[in-house]
Amino acid sequence: MLAHFLRDAEAVEQACLDGIGRAADPAALEQVRVEYLGRRGRVQELLGRLGGIAAEERPEAGQRANRLKRALEEALAARRAELERPAVRPAGPAAAADVTMPGRTHGAGAAHPISQVMDLLVEILGRMGFAVADGPDVETAYHNFDALNTPEEHPSRDPQDTFYLPEGTLLRTQTSPVQIRVMERTPPPVRIIAPGRCYRRDTADATHSASFQQIEGLYVDEQVSLADLKGTLQELAHQLFGAAVQVRFRPHFFPFTEPSIECDFSCTVCRGRGCRVCKQSGWLEIAGAGMVDPRVFSKIGYDPERYTGFAFGMGIERIAMILFGLNDIRLLYENDLRFIEQFRARFHEADR
Ligand code: DAH
Repeated sequence: MLAHFLRDAEAVEQACLDGIGRAADPAALEQVRVEYLGRRGRVQELLGRLGGIAAEERPEAGQRANRLKRALEEALAARRAELERPAVRPAGPAAAADVTMPGRTHGAGAAHPISQVMDLLVEILGRMGFAVADGPDVETAYHNFDALNTPEEHPSRDPQDTFYLPEGTLLRTQTSPVQIRVMERTPPPVRIIAPGRCYRRDTADATHSASFQQIEGLYVDEQVSLADLKGTLQELAHQLFGAAVQVRFRPHFFPFTEPSIECDFSCTVCRGRGCRVCKQSGWLEIAGAGMVDPRVFSKIGYDPERYTGFAFGMGIERIAMILFGLNDIRLLYENDLRFIEQFRARFHEADR
């Protein structure tokens, strides 16, 4: 009797587990449950037979029946959970997108900090009426030195300082030769600025680079005076650094201007109180400038009795370093994206 009972229990278990596995939806699964575990189901039928089994065999048969019931209940519950769980991925286009993936960015270009400063200077001086003029990086010694009244023995001509090229040419050491080129082809009045790259045989350090940029200015007309120069640089200072900035002139020497001056702006970092950037002086050297030397006019054929003019030149990197708070010019030339990306679009009109 016991053997018979155990064999039937085994058969019921197998058949029920098969049915659970085949059930494709909760309704089909419920039918299986009713068939086996319902009040008139096949497990109940087995339990009903226990009474007919000999007393000494009944405990084993009872245990088997209980194990069967528990196993089927567990299998049913597991299958139900599986059938009721929503699909892992929704159907449709979204199924293809893994929203946990990092996004793909499309890097937008931006002007280099030096270009930003140059653009700003061109914009400010352009509003004051200066037109942009251009000249070559490979210059003649004539335009870079001779026409600018630079004496033969002037130290800037030294091959230690200037990159000489064949046939009387060189890499321009300043943007001043553009003054000469413009005056050669244009009768007065002229009012130009010349932004561009310059070269000197300097060993790179925190404040020197063998390649750097300047912007040159030249204004020639009848009755142009030193006061016009001062007004121009003062306006430039205010538009660049704000209305509180002070401007001062110090006497200096350049071969192509007489008188020559150096122009300082009050330190924008410490507001003139003295700091590391201005070396405790309260002033920042910004530009070389002066009244065009009459000998330069004579050389290019302007009448020095009739015309006067002022000229100025300034380094872009120095201004960029002040505006952006940099302590090393080399940062501007290494083109490390981690550095230059910090300065994208710093100079939008709305920010100033
Ligand atoms: N060319 C000079 C330099 O590189 C700067 C300079 C000084 C330009 C005086 C000028 C000027 O136009 O008038 O050091």
